[in-house]
Amino acid sequence: MNIDFTNVDLSGLKDYEAKALEAFDTLIAKSGEGNDFLGWIERPTDYDKEEFDRIKKAAERIRTNSDVLVSIGIGGSYLGIKAVDVALDKYFSSDRKVKLIYAGNQLSGEYLVELLDYLKDVDYSLNVISKSGTTTEPAIAFRFLKEAIEEKYGKEEAKARIFATTDSKKGALKELADAEGYETFVVPDDIGGRFSVISAVGLLPLAAAGVDIDAFMKGFKKGQDLYTEKSFDNPAIKYAAVRNMLNNNGKDIEVLVNYEPKLQYVAEWWKQLYGESEGKDGKGIFPVSVNNTTDLHSLGQMIQEGKRNLFETVIEVKDNEIDLSIKADADNLDGLNYLEDKSLSFVNKQAMEGTTIAHVKGGVPNIRIELDKITAESLGEIFYFFEIAVGVSGYMLGVNPFNQPGVEEYKKQMFKLLGKPGY
Ligand code: PA5
Repeated sequence: MNIDFTNVDLSGLKDYEAKALEAFDTLIAKSGEGNDFLGWIERPTDYDKEEFDRIKKAAERIRTNSDVLVSIGIGGSYLGIKAVDVALDKYFSSDRKVKLIYAGNQLSGEYLVELLDYLKDVDYSLNVISKSGTTTEPAIAFRFLKEAIEEKYGKEEAKARIFATTDSKKGALKELADAEGYETFVVPDDIGGRFSVISAVGLLPLAAAGVDIDAFMKGFKKGQDLYTEKSFDNPAIKYAAVRNMLNNNGKDIEVLVNYEPKLQYVAEWWKQLYGESEGKDGKGIFPVSVNNTTDLHSLGQMIQEGKRNLFETVIEVKDNEIDLSIKADADNLDGLNYLEDKSLSFVNKQAMEGTTIAHVKGGVPNIRIELDKITAESLGEIFYFFEIAVGVSGYMLGVNPFNQPGVEEYKKQMFKLLGKPGY
């Protein structure tokens, strides 16, 4: 992975160096706000090896008896899994032995009805994931899915097909799992939801889907080696500093851009990471994403000529192994013969370069992140990069990057309307 700031005016960046390094020290020394949620920093090397083994074994069992694993969770208990799942799966005709399907990530009745109907004809297991063990969306979905799986396989067999990933000691899900005798996996106390894809939260469903979780961990380890070095040349520290500089220069929206549809959910994961970490105390850079070139025909206009309050971070995938070239056509009625022998990845790259030139000219600073390839390892590395960067960036901004007090407000209002006791 490489990061390129050529298309950002860095003339004022020197003023941010000391603050960025100080924020980095606070993060690594665990001396700042939210310091009890920093277990993810050492996690690539310091993790429960026994549980890691158990994850692999459970995944293997799921692979022998299930075509589908329903991953039930929301926020940090959903987005990282889906990001890796989508990034590494084929677009069509997946060769996955176990397909991941998601539930509990919204409250749509229609979705659940169709899911329950679909599950009648396939063999499946359930992985219910909730750090707090009390989140409404997965709890409701699990109530329905538990009933369905018990009806289909009988209580005993259903028990062996249900896996719970939650707190090691507390929460409604932990109590339920213990009472029912489900195999449980732990969301560590010191790892917040949006940082938890490196734990059993991400590892169990991804392993069941056939993702190489050793390679995924290796990527995180590479990230730990590269991005925990105290230096202003550390790309994670620099990215945090550049974001803060741009923010102070009136750029309060960051657009994460991709040119590979497989990265769509990496952007969704990133939005949660940055939105929940920085958006508080009336501060924060609003994280949005576009999938190009699709969105050049939609949000592209706004980015080019709308209010000049945004900057872009573009993820470029360097090596597109799977590709095809455009052939000449005798009639050339579509006028495309000028692209004869050009590969699709070449055309896509020119779209990216052309867009960058246009947007920079239009007053949109562009940061470029280059990924060699989309693999389990490179995803682990980029996740770790973004995590360190958000810690540094949040401390520079003057917020606690590791809490999310604002998430509770909608729940209070919703519970009141629903008549939940105590609201
Ligand atoms: O980052 C966070 O902590 C949150 O977004 C949570 O991931 C989300 O609310 C789901 O919580 P839980 O895993 O407790 O069900």
